[in-house]
Parts: sequence; structure tokens; C-alpha cells
Amino acid sequence: MLAEIRSGPPDRFILRRISHGGDSTRFAEDVRAGLTATPKYLLPKYFYDELGSQLFEAVCRLPEYYLMRAEREILSRNADEIVASIEGPARIIELGSGSAEKTRYLIEAMLRRQSELHYLPVDISDVSLESSSLELLHIYPRLRITAFVADYFSAIDALAKDSATRRGDARTVVLFLGSNIGNFDPNESRVFLREVRRVLRAGDGLLMGADLKKSARVLVPAYSDALGVTAAFNLNLLVRINRELDGDFNIENFKHRAVYNEELGRMEMYIVSRERQTARMRAIDLEIQLERGETIHTENSYKFDLEQLAAFARDTDFALEKTWFDGARYFSFNLFAAR
Ligand code: TRP
Repeated sequence: MLAEIRSGPPDRFILRRISHGGDSTRFAEDVRAGLTATPKYLLPKYFYDELGSQLFEAVCRLPEYYLMRAEREILSRNADEIVASIEGPARIIELGSGSAEKTRYLIEAMLRRQSELHYLPVDISDVSLESSSLELLHIYPRLRITAFVADYFSAIDALAKDSATRRGDARTVVLFLGSNIGNFDPNESRVFLREVRRVLRAGDGLLMGADLKKSARVLVPAYSDALGVTAAFNLNLLVRINRELDGDFNIENFKHRAVYNEELGRMEMYIVSRERQTARMRAIDLEIQLERGETIHTENSYKFDLEQLAAFARDTDFALEKTWFDGARYFSFNLFAAR
């Protein structure tokens, strides 16, 4: 099967490597900075190595992770209306495309109204990017893909410079699905949105997923499921450090913790040391001490209300044109129109 997909027409596929989480010196420096800081932290972009990307796919299939189901519900009901709100023909840039499963609803809606489509996915995981791209090319003969192995900011830089990827006057829709915007602090979100705006012209749009504020009884299990898949996803950061930096973290001596910080409106994810211990990373000549109960902060996931989202749009030269919800109003898709 895979061989057949790989033999697909190469003229429809370009893969560009810009910079990514596999960049080993950056990883080493970021791990050193995070584990010698007080309090300790690790950067969430390093979740997504090959195993991490697959564990996240598994998280998305969990009954507790309502986000994926809500997104599918919104897209399956509204893809045509969403696409109709951007004038065509348009190309799609997707930041953090992952398996690009949800994107299919939008690709199909686009292909219903225009004869061909240029899709430019960006992801930090080269394995996910390549396999999802080849699969899409196989399913949709009228699709052309330019894929970027890169973190968001390097990709945006390349896209802003690279006017060659822009054919004629076609519009651009940037997709930022999932709850990825929630992984930035509010100030970082504004910086990010301004960066995205640089790639767009007036009339273009950004379709952004945003998880909504709700009861901790729904939120906490979504980030701390009964099977322990989310725990594995979080702790995989230490497995990755062991492998790539010759570390000796004893994974069993750590646990996952997810708490809702109501005041800041965000889920906070931590790796917690079960006991006082030391860990060595021989490749970077680093030894660290952890106290019993000491935490390593790994990610925040902010939850929003519509006023906050509209304010983000206003502050970054967009207008919040329309919002789509799932039936339970757990999640939202927001069309930010570039002014
Ligand atoms: N972007 C995802 C989210 O905020 C990432 C995520 C899901 C995550 N579950 C997690 C990150 C658990 C850390 C730990 O929903």
C-alpha cells in the first residue's frame, strides 16, 4: 500500500525542510535551559517525535478528549459554509497539520467549488507530514502539496518571503485547527497572530480552532484520561530525552498531572517527580536534582470566550467574522478575516 502511495506523481509534491524539533543542538539547548530553570519546564513542541505524534493521535481517539469529536462535528456540518465565506479560488496553508484527518472536510469542500487546490501543510514531525501528504495526494488527484517540515515561526517566515508559492491572485486561507492557539500565552498568541497576518492580504482569512471555557469536570479528564494515554504522551518527553541525549530518567519515578487553573482559564500540564532523585543526560553533560513532588511544566492549554477571541482579532489587524460551534458549545471555529 505504502509503496503504491509513494509512487504517486512527484510533480504534485514538494517537501521542504526548514528547521524542526529533530534539530539536535536546539533540542539539547532547550532541554538544558528548561531543566536548569526554576521552576523546571520543557517546551511542548518537543512532544511530537514519531512516537509522540502517534500518542497524540491516540489521545484524539479517547472518549474523554471531547475536542476532536467537537471539531469533527463542526467541520462535517459546516465545511461548505466555512469555505464559502472565503472568496475563491484559494489555497490552504495549515499550521500544525499532524495527520490532517480533519482537514479533509475542508479540502473536499474546496474541491467542490474549485477545480484544483494548492495545500501547504506545516508540521514539526516529518514522519506525519510525509505520510499524511502522500495519502492526501493519493485520495485527491486535483490536489498539489508543498509541505514544510518546520516550527510555526520558521514556516511563516519562509511563506512570507516566498512569493513564488503564490500563483496569480488566489486567496489564502490559513488553518490553525485543534486547540493549538491555547498552547501560547495570551501575549504570544498576539505575536503569533500578527505573524500569520503578514502572510495574508486583505480579504484572506484565518480559520482558527479555540477551545471554550467550561467546567473543570469536563476539562480535567480530557487532559488526564483513565487509560493513561495522555500520561504516556506527556512522559514521552522524558523517553525522548533518554534516547536523544543519553539520559537516565527512570520513567516509573514520574507521573502526569493536569490541573485547571480557573483564574488564568487554562489547563496546566506537569510531569511530577514521585521521589527525590537525580537524572543525568550524558550527551550534554548535565545532571539535575528533583525533589519529591517537584514539577516540570510541559504545557498550558488556554480556554477562551468569544470576547477574548474578538479582542485577539482586533489587536492583530483581523476582524472576527464568524464563529461556528458544536452542539454542546464546547469548542469553536473562528474565521478571522484579514482587513
Ligand atoms: N494542543 C493540545 C491541547 O491543548 C495538546 C494536548 C492534548 C496536550 N493533551 C495534552 C498537551 C496533554 C500536554 C498534555 O489540547
